[in-house]
Amino acid sequence: MKLLITLLATALINIIPEPVSVQVQDGCFDISKHPNRVQCKIDPASGIAPEGYRLSVSRKGVKILSSDEAGAFYARQTLAQLVQPDGTVPCVVINDYPRFRWRGFHLDPCRHFMSVEDVKKQIDVLCQYKINRMHWHLTDDQGWRIEIKKYPKLMEVAAWRTEFDGSVHGGYYTQEQIREVVAYAAERFVTVVPEIEMPGHAISAIRAYPWLSCTGEEVKTFYTWGTPDIALCVGKDSTFEFLDDVISEVVELFPSEYIHIGGDECRKNRWENCPHCQARITELGLTKDEKGTAEEKLQSYAVHRMEGILAKYGRKLIGWDEILEGGLSPNATVMSWRGEEGGIKSAADGHDVIMTPSSGGMYFDAFQGDPKAEPHTIGHYTLLETVYNYNPVPSELLKNGKAHHVLGVQCNNWSEYMYEPWQREYMLFPRAFALAEIAWTPLERKNWESFSRRVDSACQRLDERGIVYHIPLPEQPGGSCSNLALIDKTSVELCTTRPERIVYTLDGSEPTAASAEYKEPLIFTDSAVLKTASVTSYGRLSNVRTININKMQPMAAMSESDVFSGIKARRTDGKFLTIGDLEGCNWVELQNPLGRLRDLVTLEPYNRNLPDSTRFYAAEAECCFKVRKTGVYRFSSDTDAVYIDGKLIIDNSREPVKRYSRNDTELALEAGIHKVKAVFIFNVVGGWNDLRNKTDVAIRRAGEEEWRTIKPISL
Ligand code: ACM
Ligand code: ZN
Repeated sequence: MKLLITLLATALINIIPEPVSVQVQDGCFDISKHPNRVQCKIDPASGIAPEGYRLSVSRKGVKILSSDEAGAFYARQTLAQLVQPDGTVPCVVINDYPRFRWRGFHLDPCRHFMSVEDVKKQIDVLCQYKINRMHWHLTDDQGWRIEIKKYPKLMEVAAWRTEFDGSVHGGYYTQEQIREVVAYAAERFVTVVPEIEMPGHAISAIRAYPWLSCTGEEVKTFYTWGTPDIALCVGKDSTFEFLDDVISEVVELFPSEYIHIGGDECRKNRWENCPHCQARITELGLTKDEKGTAEEKLQSYAVHRMEGILAKYGRKLIGWDEILEGGLSPNATVMSWRGEEGGIKSAADGHDVIMTPSSGGMYFDAFQGDPKAEPHTIGHYTLLETVYNYNPVPSELLKNGKAHHVLGVQCNNWSEYMYEPWQREYMLFPRAFALAEIAWTPLERKNWESFSRRVDSACQRLDERGIVYHIPLPEQPGGSCSNLALIDKTSVELCTTRPERIVYTLDGSEPTAASAEYKEPLIFTDSAVLKTASVTSYGRLSNVRTININKMQPMAAMSESDVFSGIKARRTDGKFLTIGDLEGCNWVELQNPLGRLRDLVTLEPYNRNLPDSTRFYAAEAECCFKVRKTGVYRFSSDTDAVYIDGKLIIDNSREPVKRYSRNDTELALEAGIHKVKAVFIFNVVGGWNDLRNKTDVAIRRAGEEEWRTIKPISL
């Protein structure tokens, strides 16, 4: 009986991050009736580790002991998670302290601005899971987000960008708002670490003050994603005077001991031809050797100079791992993002590091399920379990005794494809819970099964606060597709990336938790509309997927007289958005035939800087292809539209961004020759330069795994 009660009590304990030790005891305390019976003692001589605590809940009340205020705060967060819906708290003794002192999350308001309220909302939630650093990425090519009084054009000009469609996006935080956020975070034991990017990712500042670049040329605040060719000129002293002025205001706002100076993804091609940069290289005697090129060493010089500026204000430098190029500054701390190598090397050399590798699942801008079903992201695939399995201490650092240089771990939330505020939350949760646990819980206490259960409880709390989070969607193994076809019969198999119940309807109604439960592949012999969602253990539904199933006769093959060799293509100049815009435009046949459907993007040179002289166009290409057996075939493409035998089957031109083909479609085709037409529109949609697209059309027989690229037949 006692064992049973203990087991039941254990099931009620759903703390994230899992504490160092939890001893469950008999009984419970009704905190709703006696909230004043929480005694809290902060005793620096208690012997409890920094940020740690002892939390004892007995039938009589709650006692908290810690050696600092952060520990007492975290004890209260744990206590809040222990409170049951009936207002009772199971009796427990919890001893707890963090594995790492840097437990960070990162916000990028540059690509898409976020309000002060929204920032506070994320801090408010994440501090409950003992996250204690907010890395605030405040400047980038696409916008400058911090008020600097000495340089008003940063707010008037650099904070705004004209999107490709002519709309204006932007905003910045006033110094007063920043003080408010920093204070709000501090009350929750979160240190805000600002990032001021240099020498790359600085186009917005250069837009406001062109003298910051090598050439002084006019530039536009970037409205596409990726890295421009233009960086700050580090040959001119005036650039460092600007940075010093900026930092002098930044340090007044942020008490953080660390200031992040970026340092990543700086293209150095302008430096190669800049008299100022080359004079600096000569003056410093920088030459190419095994450590790097002269320009890489110039970057290292610039970071050293920033370290000096920060030291003047009593602050320490953090940079992305590119600050290793050309030699690391003596006291720099490195954020390892391009894998773990930069972190391992820096720690081996005695530098502190923060692990935030995309390969380890720390980039939360990645898909958390099938890209064909999930909302758009920048790419990659990072499941909750991938994040959970990451260990921020690489074995090399254990072997060489340098593990203590790993200050901690952080997730990065780049917002290129987070167009709406809900998308940020959807990407952050529940993966931030996994981050919290890898940052706090001792390695030997981590347990995926236990965490999976506790995550459900944490997500329920998100519901109470109106925070959006990811619930695994019903997916189709081998690639989700919402437009299926059948001749006689087809079957639809569904799965989820974590075990969840799947429900569905076939009458067009929206599924509910009480809808029919999916148990095995569904067999269809007629057209149908399948609506499906997964249901969490607490009855919450995922987004609904609608899968159209279309019974059809195989489409007839072309008559022999219509069949042609190779590709026929045509082009029309101008800016178009959707395929509807192409009606009635003047097409010009291409005289030099394209070799492949993918060549639709080669009609103008790709230029990441999209100069005013860029020629926009649309093009279409047709070819004939052979189908060996009568049957159902699936088509997939990232291009704007695909027609088979004159029938429009894929229209990606209305998507918020044209990537990750999400309108795959099946058709029944008769054996023989058929015709495909691919349409491509060069535009910038959702910050994505379409000339980077793939305009191939892929085909596979239904039920097979292998895709092949459609190639024109030659007679
Ligand atoms: C980065 O993702 N460029 C640090
Ligand atoms: Zn220069």
